[in-house]
Parts: sequence; C-alpha cells; structure tokens
Amino acid sequence: MNAQIDNLLTETRRFEPTPEFVAQANADETLYARAQADRLGFWADQARELISWQRPFTSVLNWENPPFAKWFEDGTLNVAYNCLDRHVEAGNGDRIALYWEGEPGDTRAISYAELTDEVKRAANVLTDLGVRAGDRVAIYLPMIPEAIVSMLAVARLGAVHSVIFGGFSADSIRARVDDAAATLIITADGGYRKGKVSPLKPAVDAALEARGDLPTQQTVRNVLVVGRGGNQIEWTEGRDHWWHERVPAASSVHEPEAFPAENPLFILYTSGTTGAPKGILHTSGGYLTQAAYTHRNVFDIHPETDVYWCTADVGWITGHTYVTYGPLANGATQVLYEGTPDSPNPGRWWELIEKYRVSVFYTAPTAIRAAMKLGRKIPKRSDLSSIRLLGSVGEPINPEAWMWYRKVIGGKTAPIVDTWWQTETGAIMISALPGVTVTKPGSAQVPLPGIEVSVLEENGTPVPPGSGGLLAITEPWPSMLRGIWGDPDRFRETYWSTFPNAYFAGDGARLDADGDVWLLGRVDDVMNVSGHRLSTAEIESALVAHPFVAESAVVGATDETTGQAVVAFVILKESQAEETADHAAVSAALKSHVSTLIGPIARPRDIFVVAELPKTRSGKIMRRLLRDLAEGREVGDTTTLADTTVMRIISADVAAR
Ligand code: PRX
Repeated sequence: MNAQIDNLLTETRRFEPTPEFVAQANADETLYARAQADRLGFWADQARELISWQRPFTSVLNWENPPFAKWFEDGTLNVAYNCLDRHVEAGNGDRIALYWEGEPGDTRAISYAELTDEVKRAANVLTDLGVRAGDRVAIYLPMIPEAIVSMLAVARLGAVHSVIFGGFSADSIRARVDDAAATLIITADGGYRKGKVSPLKPAVDAALEARGDLPTQQTVRNVLVVGRGGNQIEWTEGRDHWWHERVPAASSVHEPEAFPAENPLFILYTSGTTGAPKGILHTSGGYLTQAAYTHRNVFDIHPETDVYWCTADVGWITGHTYVTYGPLANGATQVLYEGTPDSPNPGRWWELIEKYRVSVFYTAPTAIRAAMKLGRKIPKRSDLSSIRLLGSVGEPINPEAWMWYRKVIGGKTAPIVDTWWQTETGAIMISALPGVTVTKPGSAQVPLPGIEVSVLEENGTPVPPGSGGLLAITEPWPSMLRGIWGDPDRFRETYWSTFPNAYFAGDGARLDADGDVWLLGRVDDVMNVSGHRLSTAEIESALVAHPFVAESAVVGATDETTGQAVVAFVILKESQAEETADHAAVSAALKSHVSTLIGPIARPRDIFVVAELPKTRSGKIMRRLLRDLAEGREVGDTTTLADTTVMRIISADVAAR
C-alpha cells in the first residue's frame, strides 16, 4: 500500500471546469455552504424538491436507535409514481425514457407514457399472481426493458425486489431466494451475450428443484417468464407464466398506493468477508432522495437535453441507483444496452454513443482499461462529440486510465467524476461536483454536500493529511442501508463495531494536503474484480466443496485489466492422489467448478496446487503472503507463521507450475 500511496502523491495534474460548463451546471458552491450550515435541513430540501410525497414528512432523521436510521419516517410516497406517472402528469409523457438496444441490434424507444403503462400492467399481473406489499420478488433477467419494468412494478405494489445478476448460478439464485423467502421469480428464457443466447430460466428451474432440506419450494409459487432468447426451456404448468401472454392482456389502470418512507424497497446481495452473501436492505424515501440528488448533481443531468448512459447491469447496485431509480426519478432519457462491449465488434459502445448522441457516460475503470489496451483507433472510429461528462465507479481509477478516458472519450474537455460508494451506501458519497471541483486524476476527492466522511487510524483518531487510514462515514445519510436482511446483529457487527460512532466502509484511503480522498482498495477479505465484489471466503468454500480439495486459500492479486484477479491455492486430498496427478487438469476442473457454483465472474484466473498453506499459530491463513507470491513479489515478513519454512515449500510449488 505504501508504494501506491507514494505513486499517488506524485500526481499533480489538475483540471479546472470550463466556464461554459460552470455556466450551465446544476451544482454550485452554495450546495456545500447550505449543507454545512444545516445538514438535515439540506436533506429535507432535497427530499421536498426532488421527490413527490403523498403525505409530506415532518421528521427528517430519527437516529434514536443507532445504527438503525429512519429518514423522513412520517412521510408517504410511491416510488414508482415518482419515477413514472408524475412525469407524464407534468406533460413529459412523450419524452423517451429508454433507448434500448439489444445485442443483436434490435431496438426499442420507450417513452415515459409507455413505460408507465407497461409498469401498471405488470403491477396488475403481479397482483393477480398474489404479490402484496412487503412480499419479496426475485428478478433474474438480462438487460432488457422488462428488467426495469419489473423492478418498478414490484416497487409500485410496496413489495420488495431482490435482483439477482444474470451471471449468477442456480446455487446463488437458490441461496438468495431462500434467504429472502421470495414468492415469485421474474426471469427470461435467455438473453444475448457475446453473439449467443445465454440461457437463464434453466438456472431458475434448477434453483427451484426440490432438495428436501431447503424451503425454496414452499415459498416460490409463480415464475413469470419473458421471452427473449427463443431458446428451448422446460415449463412447469401452473407455476410458470409467459410475460407476453399476461402483461399485454392486463389492465393499464393502476392507482399507486402510498407507502411509508421506510417501507423496504429492495434487497441486494453482496459479498462480505464471510461465506454467505449479505442481503443489503434499502428503503424508499431516503434512498430515492439521495439517488435523485446525486444523479442530478454529480452527472449534471438536464433531463430535457441530456442522453445519459450508465453501462452497469441492473443486477448490481450501480444499475439499481443509476439505471433504474436515479435517472427515472429525474425524468431523464437514457440508453440501455443488453450485451457486452465487444459484441459484435470492440467498438460497440462507442458506436452506441454516436448513434444515440450520449452526453453523459458512466462506466467502470476495468472497461476503460480494456478499451485502452485495444487502442484509441477503435473509439476514434465513432463520433463521440456529444459527450460532455464522464463518470467512473467500482474501483480506484488509476491516473493513466483517467487521462485516457478524458482525452480519447471526453474530447479533452469533459469533466470526469470518480464516484466512490458501495451497495451499502445506496448512492454516491464521495465525488467531484462537475462545474465546481477542480479535478485530480485518480482521486475521488470530496464527500458530497450532506455527507460526512473521515479517514481514521485504527484507534479512531483522524489521520493527518498525507497519510493513509480507514475510510469511515461519520453521520447517517438518507440512502444508507437499513440493515442486513434478517440479521440485525451481523449488521451491527460488520459495519458499526470498528469505530464507536461511525460506519466503517472496509476501504483504505489517504487524505492529501488539500483534504482530498484517494481510495486505496479494500482492507478486508473482499476482492474487487472488474468492479465486482467477491468474497475470498465464498470462493474458498466453493473450492472445498469439490471432492478433490482438502483446503484452500483465495487472494485478490493485482491485474492490469480487471483491477484484481482471483488467485487460489489449494491442497488436494491425499485420498484423491490418483485422480489428481495432472495438476493442470485439476486446475481447469476447479476453475469451472467455481464458475458453476457461483458464476463466471468468480472463476479464478490461477489455481496453484500446493502442499501447505501459510498459517499463524492460531490457524489463521496469512493471505498477505500468498498475495505477495501471486503478484510475483518477494514474500514479506513471515515471522508470525506457525512454521516459517512453509512459504519456501509453497514458493517451490508455484515455481514448478
Ligand atoms: O472498495 C470500494 C470499491 O467498491 C466497493 C463497493 O463495491 P460494491 O458494493 O459492489 O459497489 C460498487 C459500485 C458502487 C467499495 O468498498 N469502489 C467503488 N467505487 C470506487 C471504489 N473504489 C475506489 N474508487 C471508487 N470510485
């Protein structure tokens, strides 16, 4: 981490906003002043200005029982009404909400009036299928308009969605569906990925197969299936229903009921430091307020003129807040793309920017680095002159990628906002404000107006400028997680036990002399691969579930393109010696095993068969040493190992590969 800090300390490039940008920007200095003077008053103003309440709130924050916050608790609203009907009522029904592009090139342009209609029909279908306020609905869909329609239809009913990323396996679906006791799953036959149909419903079917010991069968009563891929699927009569038979036939009349601000809106599972993913719970009023506020100010959205595009999948928090809720609450026009950036050619994203005249573009550093590797010639083939603002999210963006992004995609003028936040924070917390902040390549910079963060020593004292520490959030914020589904103790323990009165984010950070924040990556056993969070423990437990494996240790090793890559060390069972003589074959088998069990994103880049693992005297695996090995560094201090010769044995095993 020290080398990284030194490297960042030498970054001196600065970029002032242009006067033209400043003149039209939504944000200005007064936001900071207002928030500073009266933080809760500031948030109340945002909530009143950006959101339509059915019953206005009088209480802004109830923090009587920390860490359980209640924002705007006596107010009521309907989240879907805020994202849809009110724009139609305001005369903007003809505005395009979604320019959708399927991977094979089929397209749909959906106006706010049409989207509202479709959500009302879908809400009626869900009601017919028994969904009531508070019920959990799982959504396992490709990036098609029905994904957004489904989320909003669930929200409209005051029910709770749990979106499961389409790349996750049947086991991952089962774990999530069981944990939340979902009663309905919305899926598709398949979706397009890299020129092929990638099946989805078979994974749902497998997840719902009776296993005797699991309660899934009892909770899921219906599966609503969108026809997208046209692939062959199995059908369970009585349980399965085609979207195209039910939704178009349903009534488009649906009155939005108002629910309390603290009504649960969604659960989104994310990897933590222990095996099972945590169901992060978000509620309605505070979440929507911060989603709309950040989307408007950080992306400088002018809904009448901008075409916005966030490339995230709705299966991740970025897709929840900056594809579904933020943009739609603000009445913005956005692009939604089904496929991968390189299908059918590596310039697909840039072609879409030209085609739809995208003005605000939000993506992840891993995608920027991948494009950089392919060379500027590819984006240069498209006219990117519509771009006026760029965003980055998911991991620290290295200054070189930042500079490339600005020059090649942003035409040397577009401000870049490097946005730090998490599934748990619900919305952006640290970012430059375009038109206000002088930007620094590689730094997420400043907490947004209304947000209070500190970089702390382990003992809780703030670090002096120029040094590193742990990132903490010191005041509650409207879109904060309200808990871990069904596990209040784990919520307290995970986030609120490191520091007495602050939320610990799990990230290391440095403050520079100006007080700007530079993120340094996770300090716990969470890896960040292509901006996706993976838990070392979850992959380790997948590996030991394989009959060959006796023990395993997983680390995130630095990777030029993906930020980090999964590297696993495994000890094989002696009883399996004959079957496992060929280590290359073992490694290939284990990689596909992890991919099947969790999903392709968790597939290890390298698997090393070793004879030992480095452990402390108390039996804790010293991943730091394995990381040294995986990254080709000299192995660090081994004095706390129970057996100090172990690293030599492991190094020899790795070198022998
Ligand atoms: O380590 C931080 C990193 O991503 C983690 C959160 O992951 P997730 O909940 O999946 O949400 C990702 C998208 C919001 C953080 O703990 N991270 C996210 N954004 C940044 C970042 N690290 C550095 N700079 C960022 N801009």
